[in-house]
Amino acid sequence: MRVFGVDIGGTGIKGAPVDIEDGTLAAPRFRLPTPQPADPESVARTVAEVVAHFEWTGPVGATFPAVIKSGVARTAANVDEAWIDTDVSAVLGGALGPALAGSEVAVVNDADAAGVAEMAFGAGRDTSGLVVMTTFGTGIGTALFLHGQLVPNTELGHLEIQGHDAETRASEAVREREDLSWEKWAKRVNRYLSTLEALLWPDLIIIGGGASRKAEKFFDHLELRTKVVPAQLQNEAGVVGAALYAGGDQTRARPAPRPARRRGPATRPPGGRRP
Ligand code: BGC
Repeated sequence: MRVFGVDIGGTGIKGAPVDIEDGTLAAPRFRLPTPQPADPESVARTVAEVVAHFEWTGPVGATFPAVIKSGVARTAANVDEAWIDTDVSAVLGGALGPALAGSEVAVVNDADAAGVAEMAFGAGRDTSGLVVMTTFGTGIGTALFLHGQLVPNTELGHLEIQGHDAETRASEAVREREDLSWEKWAKRVNRYLSTLEALLWPDLIIIGGGASRKAEKFFDHLELRTKVVPAQLQNEAGVVGAALYAGGDQTRARPAPRPARRRGPATRPPGGRRP
């Protein structure tokens, strides 16, 4: 089955039809610059242009870099404030009109979408337990999975560390803005990830966003207890994750392992038989 995935970012809006059975793009993705100012109407028009480029009709999923509750944006850390409380699904749906063939636009937080794609087809494939995906870009996004099941909107990029919102110290944008060496930036990333680690004790940390393509520049400087790996889908994770999310197979959830059956006196009712 094919679903159209759109990745709405601060600088570009990218989209492609995705084969959701194997997570591949059915056609090369098409990108337009994000309009400035990035108000809801202009962004929705651009999304419609990206979708129209493929003459697509059918279901569409879209990422958005904010907390998304039932299709509505609740925060705007790195986007135009006009988005707060905007029904993103309805605004995009209005611009897409008949292209949707009666379906609704499924909207998902950008990091959650990237995580969904990595869990299904990338670095988190086959990993059970607790997985944290972190995306280092303009901000820091996070996605949390327990046994493959997404816990949405975790927003752990805003953890306060030494009095600072973590993403204002350790995002990829900060590395570029402050012209930090890879080593210096890696130390900040390490501080951030060790805080996450101490709070969550994950089984795997996946690092995504622009820097995941340059893993060799900073991975050696990370000192963590947890296994850390770079994302594998990189540029395509948002588009693929949006499509998977819209396709309903939101996490490729694997069933949680059954708790081991306890045997012996502990399960026996006092003085009685086992039921
Ligand atoms: C936002 C998140 C988003 C992340 C990455 C943060 O500033 O609060 O919702 O996932 O940036 O774009």
